[in-house]
Amino acid sequence: MICFFLSLFAQVFQPGWTGVNERTFIAIKPDGVQRKLVGEIVQRFEKKGFKLVALKLVKASEDLLQDHYWDLRSKPFFRGLISYMSSGPVVAMVWQGLDVVKTARKMLGETNPAESLPGTIRGDYCVDVGRNVIHGSDSVVSAQKEISLWFRQKELQHWESSSNPWIY
Ligand code: RTP
Ligand code: MG
Repeated sequence: MICFFLSLFAQVFQPGWTGVNERTFIAIKPDGVQRKLVGEIVQRFEKKGFKLVALKLVKASEDLLQDHYWDLRSKPFFRGLISYMSSGPVVAMVWQGLDVVKTARKMLGETNPAESLPGTIRGDYCVDVGRNVIHGSDSVVSAQKEISLWFRQKELQHWESSSNPWIY
């Protein structure tokens, strides 16, 4: 019986997905790479206090992007979205920290840059919804799905950040 509850607990509270170990998937889109915003965007997440777990420059296949944006497949902008996202390399990243999914979405701003406040990434660096520079997972469940789509388990680094005691 104890074993059953332990295995249930282990399944529900997988390491890497709760509290300070929460993770999100962030991608700097092809326009963000072309416009040389990579350093600026990475710096915002670093300075906030989140921990970098994975990062790679990748030209995403249409198959991967269709899986990634599966929920939007019936939208009129879907084809354009896939072609935009596959038009050049993207910087795919995993960031970790307390409430990182929700906080990262706030750091990104609204989907439409015109509705994004100054100080947010989309509020500061773009104007058009179809060229909005950055993606962020919209929930912990989406983050899990997206991280497993874009990264292999062995690409996720396990390391101790020396600044942790100054952040938590
Ligand atoms: P993302 O997934 O890229 O982080 O963006 P999001 O959650 O803020 O917005 P979502 O509804 O998931 O839309 C995904 C991306 O599709 C493009 N889009 N174009 N033309 C349009 O009306 C329109 N609406 C959405 C944007 O690039 C958006 O980020
Ligand atoms: Mg989305």
